[in-house]
Amino acid sequence: MINKHSPLPIYYQLEQGIKELIEKAQLKPGDIIPSERELAETYEISRMTVRQAINNLVNDGYLVRKRGIGTFVAAKKIEQPLKGLTSFSEDMRARGMEPGTKVLDFQIIQANKSLAEQLQIHKGEDVYEIQRVRLADHLPMALETSYLPCHLVPGLTREIVSGSIYKFIENKLGLKIKSGIQVLEASIARKIEAEILQIKEGAPVLLIQRNSYLESGQPLELVKSIYRGDRYKFTIEMER
Ligand code: GLP
Repeated sequence: MINKHSPLPIYYQLEQGIKELIEKAQLKPGDIIPSERELAETYEISRMTVRQAINNLVNDGYLVRKRGIGTFVAAKKIEQPLKGLTSFSEDMRARGMEPGTKVLDFQIIQANKSLAEQLQIHKGEDVYEIQRVRLADHLPMALETSYLPCHLVPGLTREIVSGSIYKFIENKLGLKIKSGIQVLEASIARKIEAEILQIKEGAPVLLIQRNSYLESGQPLELVKSIYRGDRYKFTIEMER
């Protein structure tokens, strides 16, 4: 795994070697990996070098540390195709995972100028502000803040948003969610976000903003989400 004459740094070689074992399923989710001391002895490298490789793999979501027990191969990242205007609940169910929601905030606010512009409503109009932690098999995956004009979604309650908002809009209100625009950006978790998502402060996250529209062209929602970088990867199909 390690070639001391290679121009590649040793920590990087070890990191790539472990990644390869995980990708080839020679190391499987839940497997414990040897301790820093054991790896250092096996490859005749310093513990500092091993620590650097392991730290990078933990930050990238390939390994998880359990304090006082050891370091384990992490569960596979969720691979999310960036195609189709799907809901979180649908995405998780399609993967055989159980979607869950913890509602942190549900209130009606008056749209400020920027919100009114994005939702194409008048300043001061009532808008739902909903903050939810989205869970997959009970583990936090994303923190979402949604804004929806109240007149478009009458009767929304805290209880309803602890399930699927899209299901309510389509099945109960009979509206058709037609299109959306999504923007993805890289960032790092701030303290409060890290606590909610159960990751370290400064860990990588993806910021996703979705604006979605009804068949009539009326903006339905503005959603700002923070997804765990260690649990998610996105795929895009391309043609040329
Ligand atoms: C995803 C999208 C959100 C959308 C949500 C609806 O998470 N990023 O923009 O509001 O799905 O999910 P659900 O119908 O499960 O509430």
